[in-house]
Amino acid sequence: MLAGRRVVLGVTGGIAAYKAIELCRRLVDAGAHVVPVMTAGAQRFVGATTLSALASEPVQSSLWSEADPIPHTRLGQNAELIVVAPATARFLSAYATGYSHDLLTATLLATRAPVVVCPAMHTEMWEHPAVQENLATLRRRGVIVVEPDSGRLAGGDVGHGRLAAPERIVAAISEVFAATDAPGGQAGGALRGMSVLVTAGGTREPIDAVRFIGNRSSGKQGYAIAAEAAARGAEVTLVTTSNLAVPPGVSVERVETAAEMHAACERIAPTADIVVMAAAVADFRPAAAVDHKLKKADGTPQIVLEPTPDILASLGASKPAGQTLVGFAAETSELRANAGLKLVAKGADIIVANDVSAPGVGFEHDTNAVLILTASGRDLSLGLGEKREIAAALLDLIVEERSGTAEPARPTENSTPTGA
Ligand code: PMT
Repeated sequence: MLAGRRVVLGVTGGIAAYKAIELCRRLVDAGAHVVPVMTAGAQRFVGATTLSALASEPVQSSLWSEADPIPHTRLGQNAELIVVAPATARFLSAYATGYSHDLLTATLLATRAPVVVCPAMHTEMWEHPAVQENLATLRRRGVIVVEPDSGRLAGGDVGHGRLAAPERIVAAISEVFAATDAPGGQAGGALRGMSVLVTAGGTREPIDAVRFIGNRSSGKQGYAIAAEAAARGAEVTLVTTSNLAVPPGVSVERVETAAEMHAACERIAPTADIVVMAAAVADFRPAAAVDHKLKKADGTPQIVLEPTPDILASLGASKPAGQTLVGFAAETSELRANAGLKLVAKGADIIVANDVSAPGVGFEHDTNAVLILTASGRDLSLGLGEKREIAAALLDLIVEERSGTAEPARPTENSTPTGA
């Protein structure tokens, strides 16, 4: 997995910098070409000579080099992956805000390669909201965070914040390469250069300051589609009400209500090549939300509902040429008939219908089973499988439809996702 891969190893100034030496050795032993970059702080903890001796190239640490006037762009553009271990609180803050004051932070701004950060610091610093908010920002941008372990820290303290063991970091790096090497992954690039918009989760329509009308959508199906599209090289934006872990390479925009999701989709969809509406959007909302908490003493409230905007239908009505618009349909009966009606009524190219009354299907489950209808006349049934497998099969179909390689319409193509 790592053989021949060009990995930039960033080392920042924490006591755990000595473990970067072991990480470097393991990466080199696995066949990776390791390019070490140390910050000034890192060199106070370990000598550059040690890391240079073990890595594939000498350590680089300065933005200012006579021999190479722009080292950061060369490092960033040539990297297949950048791993920063240990990542200090100060480094995370600089990276999250784009403060490119040294070679490592400038290199990170100059790369499109996946980035893995491995924080290490004292427990109090790890738990500080500033650090957690910086990490949340980085995760939202698709950076992979290898969580620290618990154990002995500098100065004899014990707690959470110890750098993850080198084998865990190597495993995380291998996972990233496994995803990009997967059939249709970034290396294959079936969706490289394409922009994909996915929606996920159930909207929340406020009744008063504390209550809302919602539904059971967990966001798992939408996140699985976003993860699969990013692994295939697409630039993915996920508009979501859920708070699940952000898949690598996916940008997230959080919303709550149908109106907010509508506004985000109207802004992003016009430039998207593929739009997948997996979110469960409320069809009705309270006509007027009360700005304080309703009291029992005020009597039973009469809640007047009004329809929400139909986001999919409005995207269908203004769909740019060349865009593939995919809707979902959550049904409890007449799956095929209702899916066919929604395909036409919403102006979609593809409808993915799930019978959410069937065991293991739809809301909250890790699995799903779907019937996919296309405007071109295809009809594909996928038996119960992991949501990621459903996502993979859906993206395969989208790619086929877009390349015009779809088989001629057939009455029914039945299939079970691999491993189901
Ligand atoms: O999130 P999970 O727990 O993983 O569950 C997955 C799921 C069951 C939510 C998903 O598989 C699914 O079926 N999503 C669509 C749910 C839904 O709202 O279905 P619908 O039949 O009511 O809507 C049809 C389509 O119109 C959907 O693409 C929906 O996003 C869209 N819609 C609906 C109402 C509205 N006001 N605007 C819309 O855009």
